Amino acid sequence: MQKNLSFEATCIDITTEGFGVVKYEDFVIFVANLLPQEKALIKVVSVKKNYGYGIILKLIASHVQRVNPKCNIYNKCGSCTLQHCDYELQAQLKQQWAATLLSEFGNVEPLIKAEKTERYRNKIQVPFKDGQLGYYRSRSNDIIPFEDCLLQSALSNEILFFIRDYLLKNDLDIYFRHLMLRHNHDESSYLIILIVNKDISKKLNELCALLIAKYSIIKGIVLNINQRSDNVILGDKDIILYGIPYIEDELCKLTFRIGIHSFYQIHHQQCLKLYNCIAEVLKPQKDEILLDLYCGIGTIGLSMAHKVKELIGVEIIPEAIANARHNASLNKINNAQFYCDDITKNYDKYLNDVDIVVVDPPRKGLSNALIQELNNHDIKRLVYVSCNPHTLKRDLKLLQESYNIDRIIPCDMFPNTNHIECVVLLSKA
Ligand SMILES: C[S@@+](CC[C@H](N)C(=O)[O-])C[C@H]1O[C@@H](n2cnc3c(N)ncnc32)[C@H](O)[C@@H]1O
Repeated sequence: MQKNLSFEATCIDITTEGFGVVKYEDFVIFVANLLPQEKALIKVVSVKKNYGYGIILKLIASHVQRVNPKCNIYNKCGSCTLQHCDYELQAQLKQQWAATLLSEFGNVEPLIKAEKTERYRNKIQVPFKDGQLGYYRSRSNDIIPFEDCLLQSALSNEILFFIRDYLLKNDLDIYFRHLMLRHNHDESSYLIILIVNKDISKKLNELCALLIAKYSIIKGIVLNINQRSDNVILGDKDIILYGIPYIEDELCKLTFRIGIHSFYQIHHQQCLKLYNCIAEVLKPQKDEILLDLYCGIGTIGLSMAHKVKELIGVEIIPEAIANARHNASLNKINNAQFYCDDITKNYDKYLNDVDIVVVDPPRKGLSNALIQELNNHDIKRLVYVSCNPHTLKRDLKLLQESYNIDRIIPCDMFPNTNHIECVVLLSKA
């Protein structure tokens, strides 16, 4: 197979990463944005030993559910990988991918679909480099500036551009790494985080004054200093320039404080459905102790605290645990304890005597050691909430040693992207 070769082909399949699959004389080429049954003129752009990658030069026959992407940087930005599909097709593909990866464990139930498919993100973090504010080009460090990102609210876009223009006009952009915004679900509170490479707080008084005067919904402005050389977005040092370093949001009839470094689900409506689904499958009981592992600010556990005897939450980020403890008292929940710990290492003390467990790990999934402990302990029901079906599949294979897999429910937390969330109910075999 030669690089730069072009040929006509029909797409025979689509991978769980969203690449269309075509063959050239039995050699497999993965083509971004090509949908099943579509016919296209393809150009090979890279060749590996057993496969290659191609791009569409010309679409000859398109899928009936293909739509024109609304975003004008769609072909360059790496975020909205499914914007060329109508929502029904996006949902079908996610269902199909979840089934491909997980049906060996049982029936994959219908995807929990989203009503709100645009402007759903309540947190954005945009790289600001060489005077350019934008998202990274897929698999590269090039910045692609945008005019209106459809994943974030119109006001978020406006505030971002206001800050960018001020920084450029005043030659302050050189200090910047990222701009980050967080807001609550009705957009009545915004938190602005300016992520810089050194303390320039004294140079930002005018910007803060202008922002506060123009946008009364801004409740806090924080300077975050990040001098790391890796691609971790937030540094360790925060300087409050104005107001408070958190927002509060209402979720599941409770109020949650969310700090800068704490995880919070980004799609509010889908988060409600996800948490309802977790409670519905777990069926917590009044005489049971619930352990919420990877608990963040305590949202999953606290939303079920009134249904159990006791709630224990464990999380590695100190600020998130401080938020979780605050959230328990803010909502007058007296049966919850939260611990700041690395659950991949220190699991022994938490797993004894608990009846039911929720795990909601980051994309890398659970550690083997934790899986071993979950297998060894007498847990009646375990709900695994996963944002990565590949690591979920790996972990379920090991958990099957001691658990039955009773339900698998995919949920669309990230419309227009190829990400899939899953809720899996396991019970002790
Ligand atoms: C996907 S988030 C889930 C948070 C929370 N359950 C929620 O729904 O908002 C994963 C959480 O795991 C935490 N985490 C990552 N590694 C951890 C570890 N080794 N031990 C404990 N918590 C960890 C992260 O800080 C993050 O808050």
